[in-house]
Amino acid sequence: MANDPLLGPVVVSADEIAARVVELGAEISKDYAERPPLLVGVLKGAFVFLADLARAISLPAELDFMAVASYGTATKTSGVVRIVKDLDIDLTGRHVIVIEDIVDSGLTLSYLRKSLLARGPESLSICTLLKKTGQQRADFDVEYVGFEIDPEFVIGYGLDVAERYRNLPDLRVYLAGEPE
Ligand code: IMP
Ligand code: MG
Repeated sequence: MANDPLLGPVVVSADEIAARVVELGAEISKDYAERPPLLVGVLKGAFVFLADLARAISLPAELDFMAVASYGTATKTSGVVRIVKDLDIDLTGRHVIVIEDIVDSGLTLSYLRKSLLARGPESLSICTLLKKTGQQRADFDVEYVGFEIDPEFVIGYGLDVAERYRNLPDLRVYLAGEPE
């Protein structure tokens, strides 16, 4: 992968991610000290972030996963999302934190958030590793943001192009731009 001509500059290095994940974990541990959270990872992009973040949280957290697919093309979300893998755990009365890789337009999370809120959690917040500056078309709060980044297409640390590059330790620009 090192000599892949489509691999662009590092946007956030593995060391910077690790340091920020520790901070986010401490913040969540403080905020949820009295109400252990249920961490809901959105597959597949959030799997690396969730694995690291969960270990930075010093509370008896529970974990579950869901997978969503957007109607429309691979990366331009229409805002209508299909749940491909649903949660195993009932959300009623739970303190849920949705763990996402990246908020771009925000349409995916906006839809997911509404559908999870309809299941009666006691509280619901969102933690995303990345948020693209100035791109959001849906209006909702994101309580925990790892990094705000320029609106470029990035890969690595769980994020992919056609299932590749998820295992890169750093976040990098993808030089071919946003795939169609
Ligand atoms: P949104 O609905 O526009 O916020 O986009 C959400 C989804 O698009 C994310 O969860 C990612 O799966 C994907 N996505 C958006 N931007 C990027 C990127 O820069 N790299 C990889 N995937 C991305
Ligand atoms: Mg995603």
